[in-house]
Amino acid sequence: MLRELAELTSDEAGAQRVAWTDVWQTARAFLREQLRELPVTIRTDTAGNQWARLPGGGGTVIIGSHLDSVPDGGWLDGAYGVMCAVEVLRALAARGPLPCTLALVEWADEEGARFGHSLFGSSAVAGTLGVADVRELADGSGLRLGDVVTEHGVRLDDLDEARQEIRGARAYLEAHIEQGPVLEREGLPIAAVSGTVGVERHRVTFRGQTAHSGSTPMDMRRDAFLAAAATALAVRESAVRHRGVGTVGAVRLRPGIVTAVAGETVILVDQRHPDGGALTAMLGEAQRASREAASAEGCTVSWEPVFRARPQPFADELVSVVREVCTEFTGQGRVLPSWALHDATQMAGVVPTAMLFTSSTRGISHAREENTPEEHLRLGVEAFYRTVSHVIARTAASAGPTI
Ligand code: GLV
Ligand code: MN
Ligand code: MN
Repeated sequence: MLRELAELTSDEAGAQRVAWTDVWQTARAFLREQLRELPVTIRTDTAGNQWARLPGGGGTVIIGSHLDSVPDGGWLDGAYGVMCAVEVLRALAARGPLPCTLALVEWADEEGARFGHSLFGSSAVAGTLGVADVRELADGSGLRLGDVVTEHGVRLDDLDEARQEIRGARAYLEAHIEQGPVLEREGLPIAAVSGTVGVERHRVTFRGQTAHSGSTPMDMRRDAFLAAAATALAVRESAVRHRGVGTVGAVRLRPGIVTAVAGETVILVDQRHPDGGALTAMLGEAQRASREAASAEGCTVSWEPVFRARPQPFADELVSVVREVCTEFTGQGRVLPSWALHDATQMAGVVPTAMLFTSSTRGISHAREENTPEEHLRLGVEAFYRTVSHVIARTAASAGPTI
């Protein structure tokens, strides 16, 4: 399924399943096709998430991930977790009636690649999406999120209804590639995940004066790009100092021509750290550095939040289940934090949640080179199946609202 999906939705530069595009819809139709023969009810909620429910006894265990990718992305990020969930649903449907309901979810716009706001569908379901914060977010060509999602059947005013989807949910489980170098370095194919790190993501706008590149003396310039460039270096220094990560992954210059000093520069800054206090310090340091850089270049600077997530631990009892299953398969119960975001970050705030990672070759992700040895992918789906089976058994045996 993964190879077929990649064939269908990639070009020579990588996966092109960016959310709210036709290629993404092709991927979602491919998923429906895989589910066609199964005894599931399929629906799309008001936030655009697709659900397939295999009805069983009381309580629901949710499994899933996302199909959207970054532009020029990898074949496994998100898609691996969705196809693991399909495989588990298929195997459990064949086993006969389940003691609880099993729901597969394919989340809408996990990546936030187009509008900068990650975890759209899962935030809506968790009740943490600020509609006013996202409606006006614009993509690279100036189109607004509020208008674009409408074309895909999502009405922001109805988003709250999506919260109904997790009524009765007892657990959320997600399989994913690690997207980093840890498991490969340690020679491990799979591991449990302890939680996701905190994220601060901001759009920073520097304004100076557009001027002629030839006739404007160096001491008369107000170059917005130079202020942005100095800030990017400060983002890196601060991340290194705090043992976090910091990235300026996007920059736009106005007018953006070689014969003019940039009068305006917009950068997107992404900072991450497992510790909330250290993350706040990193943000403060970057903001201070940007004000100093702007002042040195005769520019102004303004910061607007685009997306934030607190460090989010997963549910200890479920992490233990995943760790024990990994130990059965590999002899080692490694548990590691995720520096990448996941829809599990949102689910963990409202439902007991855990994740299982498979290794990533050379730690590369969000790139077409993204890969995982096939035997690790196979082991991951076997381990995910065993994890889900354990959690279903525990859910059926427990009477309370949570595990
Ligand atoms: C998405 O993959 C993220 O970690 O931002
Ligand atoms: Mn992902
Ligand atoms: Mn991703």
